[in-house]
Amino acid sequence: MEDSDKKDGFSRRDFLKTTAAGVGLAMTTGKLFGRPFLLTGAGQGRTVMPSDELRVALIGAGEQGRVLLDCCLRIPGIKIAALADIWEYSRNYASGYLNKYGQTPHVYEDYKQLLNSEKDLDAVIIATPDWVHAEQANACLNHGLPVYCEKEMSNSLDQARTMVETARRTGRLLQIGHQRRSNPRYIHAIDKLLHERQIIGRVMIGYAQWNRARAEMLSWPKKYTIPSEILHRYGYNSMEEFRNWRWFKKYGGGPIVDLGSHQIDLFSWAFKANPKSVVASGGIDYYPQREWYDNVMVIYEYDTPTGAARAFYQVQTTTSHGGFYETFMGDNGSLVISEVPQRGDWAYREAHAPDWAPLVREGLIRSEAPPIQKVQTKNVFVDVRVTAEAGRWPLPIELAKPAHQPHLENFFEAIRRGVPLNCPAELAYESAVAVLKVNEAVRNHAYLKFRAEDFKA
Ligand SMILES: NC(=O)c1ccc[n+]([C@@H]2O[C@H](COP(=O)([O-])OP(=O)(O)OC[C@H]3O[C@@H](n4cnc5c(N)ncnc54)[C@H](O)[C@@H]3O)[C@@H](O)[C@H]2O)c1
Repeated sequence: MEDSDKKDGFSRRDFLKTTAAGVGLAMTTGKLFGRPFLLTGAGQGRTVMPSDELRVALIGAGEQGRVLLDCCLRIPGIKIAALADIWEYSRNYASGYLNKYGQTPHVYEDYKQLLNSEKDLDAVIIATPDWVHAEQANACLNHGLPVYCEKEMSNSLDQARTMVETARRTGRLLQIGHQRRSNPRYIHAIDKLLHERQIIGRVMIGYAQWNRARAEMLSWPKKYTIPSEILHRYGYNSMEEFRNWRWFKKYGGGPIVDLGSHQIDLFSWAFKANPKSVVASGGIDYYPQREWYDNVMVIYEYDTPTGAARAFYQVQTTTSHGGFYETFMGDNGSLVISEVPQRGDWAYREAHAPDWAPLVREGLIRSEAPPIQKVQTKNVFVDVRVTAEAGRWPLPIELAKPAHQPHLENFFEAIRRGVPLNCPAELAYESAVAVLKVNEAVRNHAYLKFRAEDFKA
């Protein structure tokens, strides 16, 4: 599709980008600058004419870039027109993968070359290491392009702030990759059950964890070693640091930022408040050759609209015990959820709470799972404490697509139809403030307070 369909000096591509600035449309059928425009299936995105496809570029085709590419291939009307990555291995892998699905992107080493050469892009996805997000997102926004940028916005709050400012100044969309914000399971759990129906009562405690087994540093196929002059040109000190950027202060924020950013973001969503303080403990306890804390425990305090609340978060990289999930505890019950439904996908009802049977009839939760005392086992000694435990009620929403797909769909729908972004830059910045502060609390063994203005970019 060329940018030749100018009408009244305004092209379709201009229209898409302006829509990104928040014009917002609500239409189901109609004409878009003389072209038929068809929307089908609520929640499934719209089916567009082939000529209405979005031409998207990817910068950073590593592990996560490829996850996002895979999602894009499942979304109608998305064409990966170009990709840029400084590593030949990633370039070959991603372009080869796309070729299998009939997509033939232009391939670049340097994203600046991509931006200068590709004249008819509709959007850019950025999945490079955190430390280059700001430079690349700002450049794309300044080119007039909407951006989906992976979390964490940046490993520096100053840099993250520039992203918010650039998005604001250019009027272009900037979605940050906290994909739980678009996940219908999380939206149901937090917006519907916690907030709207308040089924677990007053929520006073959050708990989340991301525990991973010990793992060696990442290596690489030796034939794909990047010559040091090229590595240095792009700011990397060595192949070891390039591959394991998460663990080094120059490029990332360590496990608390890498993993915690997703879940700490949920505390603010659930509590409808940013934290007022943080205290944390962590250390380089296990991997002496790495720069970031490998195990971290955090306590946040909140003033929520319903009163005081606290959240405990831990990220451990020397045990996979319990995996990763989030829990919200109220005085009438609790809710456990995880991106992996086997780890969390249910609510517990306290015995004194109002009857949940009407919620089951409404389809908001599923019927209570068999209580523990009815399970046939020789190994459970059932006594009065067990019978007093809260019953477990599974959640009803399933996500039959990869976890990142709804977040990308939200981004593309924002470009096409002006729907609001689920994680715009301002919101992600607030989350980044809460998360990045943890490393400071660990470093200083300090109890740190937040001011309301700390969360404003
Ligand atoms: N939302 C999620 O669930 C999720 C999951 C994993 C990673 N991430 C995020 O995605 C991003 C990438 O993580 P990853 O696991 O794919 O890392 P990775 O190391 O596997 O991939 C990074 C890619 O970026 C390329 N790259 C590095 N510097 C570049 C530059 N200046 N220009 C162009 N390409 C460059 C590398 O060659 C590599 O191919 C990070 O921000 C990470 O936090 C998000």
